[in-house]
Amino acid sequence: MRIVLVGPPGAGKGTQAAFLAKNLSIPHISTGDLFRANISKQTELGKLAKSYMDAGNLVPDEVTIAMAKDRMEQSDAVNGFLLDGFPRNVSQAEALDEMLKAESMKLDAVLDLEVPEDEVVKRIAGRRICRNDSAHVFHVTYQAPKAEGVCDTCGGELYQRDDDSEETVRKRLEVYHTQTEPIIDYYKAQGLVVTISALGKVEDVTGKAMAALKGDGE
Ligand code: AP5
Ligand code: ZN
Repeated sequence: MRIVLVGPPGAGKGTQAAFLAKNLSIPHISTGDLFRANISKQTELGKLAKSYMDAGNLVPDEVTIAMAKDRMEQSDAVNGFLLDGFPRNVSQAEALDEMLKAESMKLDAVLDLEVPEDEVVKRIAGRRICRNDSAHVFHVTYQAPKAEGVCDTCGGELYQRDDDSEETVRKRLEVYHTQTEPIIDYYKAQGLVVTISALGKVEDVTGKAMAALKGDGE
């Protein structure tokens, strides 16, 4: 399957993507994670991306589209993928359509995670991520690790993202509403959007998402 995951910052895209990708045997491709990997390796792309990310703005389309294309062309993605954080505006969505068309491929679904704004703010404020693997995501109260500051899965150190400050989160939410939300209408016109509420327990949201992707509805 070829799936796009969309939802505001802190909706739980990364959390859900880890389970959905495993259930569906497809790679989880997160442009945010790809940028953060470049930042920690201090590449030129990482240095460029960091200046935009820390301000809560989108990284320019040209570099983002090239990076996403490069990742989607890797051998593990030929039979499908779960895109998390890409596309993030209409021009990226158009570029993705072009890429897929060139390979005679198409998307199967766009999964839209709905969460009220006060809840995303709480989720982001308490989020902690493992330095060893960005798929190991915790929350100080909702998904608390057994030992404070230590990853349950691998023992790595947990940290708070630089762009999770209150001010940057406000900017990221604004960017989501103005630039990213329009892709939902873009994909609705293609009949691809399935919307679910991402409130509730992580495993219940995964169950709803799997049912929606199989066409069972909510
Ligand atoms: P990115 O990394 O994609 O961030 P985001 O979209 O803002 O989303 P988040 O990672 O903040 O949240 P999430 O929805 O994954 O939530 P999570 O699962 O962690 O992008 C970061 C930046 O990179 C952008 O601002 C931009 O600058 C740049 N960028 C990336 N892609 C780009 C693109 N295509 N174009 C241009 N620029 C791009 O969950 C959040 C918290 O909630 C966690 O603590 C988790 O434990 C908790 N939680 C999850 N589910 C639940 C639940 N059901 N109940 C209770 N708590 C829960
Ligand atoms: Zn870990």
